[in-house]
Amino acid sequence: MKRVWVMRPFHDEAIYNSLKQNFEVDTWDDHKTPPHDVVMEKAKECDAFLPEGIDIIDAEVLDGATRLEVIGNRAVGTDNVDIPAATRNGILLTNTPGVLQDACADMTFALLLDAARQVAYGDRSIRAGKWVFFDQTPYLGLDAYGKTLGIFGFGGIGQRVAKRASGFDMRVIYHSRSRKIDLEESMGVEWAPSLADLLQASDYVSLHCPLTDATRKMMGAEQFAMMKSTAIFINMARGGVVDQPALYEALKNKTIARAAIDVTDPEPIPMSDPLLTLDNVVITPHVGSASEATFKNMGLMAVRNITAALTGDAPETPVNPEALQNR
Ligand code: GLV
Repeated sequence: MKRVWVMRPFHDEAIYNSLKQNFEVDTWDDHKTPPHDVVMEKAKECDAFLPEGIDIIDAEVLDGATRLEVIGNRAVGTDNVDIPAATRNGILLTNTPGVLQDACADMTFALLLDAARQVAYGDRSIRAGKWVFFDQTPYLGLDAYGKTLGIFGFGGIGQRVAKRASGFDMRVIYHSRSRKIDLEESMGVEWAPSLADLLQASDYVSLHCPLTDATRKMMGAEQFAMMKSTAIFINMARGGVVDQPALYEALKNKTIARAAIDVTDPEPIPMSDPLLTLDNVVITPHVGSASEATFKNMGLMAVRNITAALTGDAPETPVNPEALQNR
């Protein structure tokens, strides 16, 4: 019987039951990412992995993976897997696009409005005993309506963010690997020819791109300096897209007004990170897609992908279908 390694114990019964109908299921019994040596060993003992998007599956694991056939990532991002190594070893990688885009867009707006109107800051102030008389002046916010939102990365999530922005009467500009002229008309969004154009023109900048060699540390001191001093920076992509010390400097020196980030580098952010000393940043623990329903639906999608791959069917969302040629 084929064996699937579910790399966390916290999934819904529906996920385990569906897998158990067809496979032997081995579960990692800890909420933390499994250590590298365990991942190496499991790649020799299991036919499929069901990891979280932060579980590193590198070339050393993949080159030594004598049994592994498929990695059903419970994430849309795939930067945790060395894709060329998976492909050359004939190991299929699948992800979970589409199913999470509304949840991620909702969370983007939660962060955007929080940074604009200082929701978490107000809450922190009350808990610190600072609400002792009526005085709004420490909490004055920035408007969202009528402002320009610059979206970098205009895939499913970026497009859903744009849809929400139109309800907030925002002007939306975007930059992406490819221009999407049909959407410019149908959604009323405008193309920014470069990242620099986007940064210079936006009151809010929101990242929705994958972490790749092209985007790694894309936002550095030079890029923050291009932004308006009143601008708010939102990162829903990956911590690695940002030079984090440069973000700290930009916030501390008021090069930009505020930031709201759901991802950091590294994760979890160490308590000693200087970003945690600033009041003009709000940080959430990588929960962009994490509504109850979407969490479960991403797990079920990973299960469907794994089941298809191990039973000879075509998975819904293969990332490297060319891997099959190397079996
Ligand atoms: C979450 O970060 C994902 O990639 O799904």
